[in-house]
Amino acid sequence: MNILLLGSGGREHALAWKIAASPLVTKLWCAPGNAGIAREAECVPLDIANHAAVIDFCRTNAVDFVVVGPETPLAAGIVDDLASAGIRAFGPSKQASRLEGSKGFTKALCTEFGIPTGAYGRFTNAADALAYVRAQGAPIVVKADGLAAGKGVVVAQTLREAEDAIAMMFDGAFGAAGAEVVIEEFLSGREISFFALSDGDTAIALASAQDHKRVFDHDQGPNTGGMGAYSPTPFVTPEIHAEIMAKIILPTVAGMKARGTPFRGVLYAGVMLTPAGPKLFEYNVRFGDPECQVLMLRMMSDIVPAMLASCDGQLKNFDLRWFPDAALTVVMAASGYPGEYAKGTRIEGLEDAASVEGVEIFHAGTVSKDGHILANGGRVLNVCASGNSVSEAQRRAYEAVDRIRWPEGFCRRDIGWQAVDWERKGS
Ligand code: AMP
Ligand code: GLY
Repeated sequence: MNILLLGSGGREHALAWKIAASPLVTKLWCAPGNAGIAREAECVPLDIANHAAVIDFCRTNAVDFVVVGPETPLAAGIVDDLASAGIRAFGPSKQASRLEGSKGFTKALCTEFGIPTGAYGRFTNAADALAYVRAQGAPIVVKADGLAAGKGVVVAQTLREAEDAIAMMFDGAFGAAGAEVVIEEFLSGREISFFALSDGDTAIALASAQDHKRVFDHDQGPNTGGMGAYSPTPFVTPEIHAEIMAKIILPTVAGMKARGTPFRGVLYAGVMLTPAGPKLFEYNVRFGDPECQVLMLRMMSDIVPAMLASCDGQLKNFDLRWFPDAALTVVMAASGYPGEYAKGTRIEGLEDAASVEGVEIFHAGTVSKDGHILANGGRVLNVCASGNSVSEAQRRAYEAVDRIRWPEGFCRRDIGWQAVDWERKGS
């Protein structure tokens, strides 16, 4: 089978690594890819926003199956366009991608189908939004409705911050994405990521993970795309796992089907484990980055039949096996990220780092030039490791990080801290 993978981040390197290991694959391309993905797949310089060019490539190269990594092409309807051209693709349709593309859409779905989430209001003008936050009080969460590259959420600790966020969003800080604003109850508890695979009719759980969104140690500084992750998280006990499937994932799949927009692909639920039980605070319609990297390390089964089953409505009775080991990934980013950063700095020591037991290095923003690996983005490398505990995976990942010579890069030193604390205390 010939497969084309779309994307260029650490998530896509992990997917390419896993897909390339499948005996079903004859040929794997990745568009546009990166220097690490080039080891697993043939990278092609396609503009993935140009759906006609992607379709053309598939026809010319007899591509049987397209796997879409990031949300932007999904929200732009690439899966629908490929389907119209007779090409199978893994991921949700444009309509189903609204679970990530519109926070108001997801909140309304939760209300309609009784999915636990925070109380909320939807607003299209600042005056009504301001009246609502003044009535509710702080802390409160202000969200731009649409896709805003992870920057459209303000967790306001004071009324003043909430008022400023409302003003900023209605002033057009996020363009059309902020034309509607969702204001949500502040949920307190532990935040976890829960992944499931759906075929439109049913869903199977993948695994749980924890991301680290803030840029600095001790969860300080601005939000990023994610500075590291580990899986599984001890905070998703078997009981909580079953509750999330029964109260959040399966009602969402049933609701999307009932509305005539079945969801096929990876459902990534952002869940707060509150004293009143797990509550959904957001959906994403694709694998998390960097959560995907740890999920791929832990997945024992071939991923390709699972993706085909999701696409073809055949997930019922499907089973995925996982390695019992934990996995952890540390993101190395260019100094200055998530603000301004330099490109083109040289990274050395990668082979030495990759030789640490249990370690796998996935590339995000890298290019290869004259035999050297150069940084080419904000998040640049994912140094991943497996281990018999999160603590062991963490030790191995940082041993590898310390072998990488890249003075212009940085990483957090405390990825996995919640699970490591938990393991140390033994509960
Ligand atoms: P997002 O950009 O949607 O991933 O949200 C960014 C972060 O905001 C999340 O990772 C949560 O930590 C936080 N957040 C979102 N919604 C809520 C909520 N209702 N209560 C508390 N924190 C939230
Ligand atoms: N790691 C967060 C995300 O992929 O959205």
